[in-house]
Amino acid sequence: MRLVSVVGTRPQLIKAAALQPLLRRHHEEIFVDTGQHYDDAMAGNFFGELGLARPDHALGIGGGGHGDQTGRMLIALEPLLEAARPEAVVVFGDTNSTLAGALAAAKLGIPVAHIEAGLRSFDRRMPEELNRVVADHLSRWLFAPTPAAVANLAIEGITAGVFEVGDLMLDLAARVSADVKDPAVLAAIAARLNLPIATGRFLFATVHRAENRSIAAMTAWTSLLGAVATPDRPVFLALHPGTKTALQAAGIALPRNVIVIEPQGYSTSLALQLHAAAVLTDSGGVQRESAWLGVPCLVLRDTTEWVETVGGHGSSAVLVGLDRETAVRELDARAPQARSAQQATERAAALHLVGAGAAARISNALQTSPREMGA
Ligand code: UD1
Ligand code: UDP
Repeated sequence: MRLVSVVGTRPQLIKAAALQPLLRRHHEEIFVDTGQHYDDAMAGNFFGELGLARPDHALGIGGGGHGDQTGRMLIALEPLLEAARPEAVVVFGDTNSTLAGALAAAKLGIPVAHIEAGLRSFDRRMPEELNRVVADHLSRWLFAPTPAAVANLAIEGITAGVFEVGDLMLDLAARVSADVKDPAVLAAIAARLNLPIATGRFLFATVHRAENRSIAAMTAWTSLLGAVATPDRPVFLALHPGTKTALQAAGIALPRNVIVIEPQGYSTSLALQLHAAAVLTDSGGVQRESAWLGVPCLVLRDTTEWVETVGGHGSSAVLVGLDRETAVRELDARAPQARSAQQATERAAALHLVGAGAAARISNALQTSPREMGA
């Protein structure tokens, strides 16, 4: 089938890297990068690291408010899709690039395939929730990662074209994780960053959600990170450039023992998660990866669309919101400082991840035309 895939942000480049090798074996792919993320550390570097094809069309649309950004994407995508006349447009996840790709295609009558369909946080204040709902309702192929996602779609009346395929990001994590198990990998990262990063003796953090960029939220989560960081177990915060700008604009400084690092490459991100005592994040991707790696994870949100990761007793992740006392308590319970080096060493040694097979299922399902599916 002749396909256009639309990506734009870091997690979409990562998902595309998991799918592209198989997709290109069975289909003709025209690869479009909206440019929603544009710094090398957020976008450009992932092409080389993950072996992604260069985009056939790089639209260079980053920055701006939601309407402005999404509108410019629509304006650029419409003529491109009209000229390319693909049989389907593939979109990933829940960003503004997802929304623009799905909407531009649907308006031209081109069938949409949505990867990570059916996820719901049930919080419509999140821009991502709006993007997911719209993309799902416009799609012919709905590639759901989990049974819960399939059930969410059914509640909204969507049953045709739904495929439960597993988590595409697990396919890539399984491919890369064996290479980051070796403690020497961590030592090399420590040397490159010139920081004292040792197995189980640090916490890894990322924060980027829009709701965590208000002054009140930034005050709360910086204080939370300060409460869990100690001289013997600092927090390494891989800071999204949008969050960095927001902190600077608000004049909020990070507490002692919270050390900012640049956004890292994909395998470094996996290595820093695997060898950490614990992870603190509001990222959907990091939340799942830390669960697969078996690392305790404090989710700096009140809700999650990845309900399986916070499934109760025995699950590796817990929603702590921005409450510092809860965070300190949960961290002590899940990764007590006296034991975390040992825990991390054992975890890395035992790691054996198996892919979900999502890329193959998606690629196969795309060989069935929507008409044959009855859509
Ligand atoms: C976007 C997605 C979010 C996803 C995240 C992944 C939407 C609504 N949000 O959030 O779902 O989890 O990507 O990381 O699509 N910026 C830079 N350099 C960059 C990219 C962004 O400086 O390379 C700054 C810009 O000031 C920009 C701000 O970050 O205005 C926000 O970027 P944007 O792409 O709008 O949203 P994200 O917060 O990255
Ligand atoms: N990631 C990365 N470098 C970092 C932080 C995260 O490569 O410094 C990876 C992470 O391992 C995961 C993906 O980025 O694969 C998650 O993307 P992000 O947190 O930007 O977005 P979300 O998943 O929340 O949509």
